[in-house]
Amino acid sequence: MTTLTLLPAGKTFEVASGISLLKAMLDAGVQLATKCGGNASCGACHVFIQEGRKTVSRTTPAENAKLDTLVGVGSKSRLACQVVLGTEPVTVELPGALSGY
Ligand code: FES
Repeated sequence: MTTLTLLPAGKTFEVASGISLLKAMLDAGVQLATKCGGNASCGACHVFIQEGRKTVSRTTPAENAKLDTLVGVGSKSRLACQVVLGTEPVTVELPGALSGY
């Protein structure tokens, strides 16, 4: 288990290690309509990992390729569907339309 904090609301959830960040977010109630089913091709799951970047899985080439096509990405950008949670706490900022969560 690990801890997932979602910003800007600051809500914290206990989630399983070894699952995707996308699954953890959906389980936490984030309303996210993915168009690709978690295959790094729609970009709908773009988030910023503010803390805990070293505990999650590394960026894949497919993820990097998709991130390069999105507007508003930064050094903390990840596709939640490609991130596998580790054992340390993670803080994730939800951008744009998701930030109302
Ligand atoms: S769900 Fe489509 S890119 Fe992550």
